[in-house]
Amino acid sequence: MRVILLGAPGAGKGTQAEAVCKALNIPAISTGNILKAAMKEGTPLGLSAKSFIESGQLVPDDVIIGIVKARIREDDCKNGFLFDGFPRTIAQAEALDQMGVTIDRVINIRASDDLIIRRIGGRRSCPACGAVFHIEHKKPKSDNLCDNCGEKLVIRSDDEPQTVQKRLQVYRSQTKPLERFYAEKGLLFEVDGEKDSSLVTKDILGVLGQ
Ligand code: AP5
Repeated sequence: MRVILLGAPGAGKGTQAEAVCKALNIPAISTGNILKAAMKEGTPLGLSAKSFIESGQLVPDDVIIGIVKARIREDDCKNGFLFDGFPRTIAQAEALDQMGVTIDRVINIRASDDLIIRRIGGRRSCPACGAVFHIEHKKPKSDNLCDNCGEKLVIRSDDEPQTVQKRLQVYRSQTKPLERFYAEKGLLFEVDGEKDSSLVTKDILGVLGQ
């Protein structure tokens, strides 16, 4: 099974990627998480991505395509994978085609801008393991500490209101055209991302025939 999760920043891609991948026993490939881990480690990739991410811009296509090419060659991807946050431009989708990767389903998680802003406003993330929480909808068991590794949760550096507006603008101009790209291939399926998280997971698994 090879799946793409599309959707605006904060629509719930990361949350659903975790639940769906657990159910299907396939890895999630999140370009956002790969870049943030590189930033944390201070690698050349992280240093070059930092200014793009913190200003709400996309990281250049050639960098992202290089990351994905290498990642899908790894052993755990043999039985499939789920892309969270890739592709994000038509050029990235075309590069994926050129890699000879056949996609089974593209799932577009829909949510309104108002809801997205509330979700991102309440998001708390673990800087160590990348786990995602919400101050109302997914509270950590201990106040502001990660359930998985106990690290103190933080507000992402690109979750400041001004940067979120920029990310939404970039999403509309550069990523939304992918809906048409995949609809024309007969691969696009829509799910209502405004429902309770477990119901969204159920809908996605339904689209995937599970
Ligand atoms: P990335 O990390 O991919 O960010 P994003 O796409 O903007 O998405 P988010 O992580 O903000 O949101 P999400 O949809 O995963 O929502 P989540 O599940 O956390 O990318 C960051 C940056 O890296 C980009 O801006 C760009 O610079 C760069 N980048 C990455 N990939 C790239 C690429 N391919 N090309 C170029 N640049 C790239 O949910 C949000 C909150 O809501 C959480 O608190 C969660 O708990 C809560 N929540 C989720 N679902 C529900 C629900 N159903 N009900 C209630 N609460 C919910």
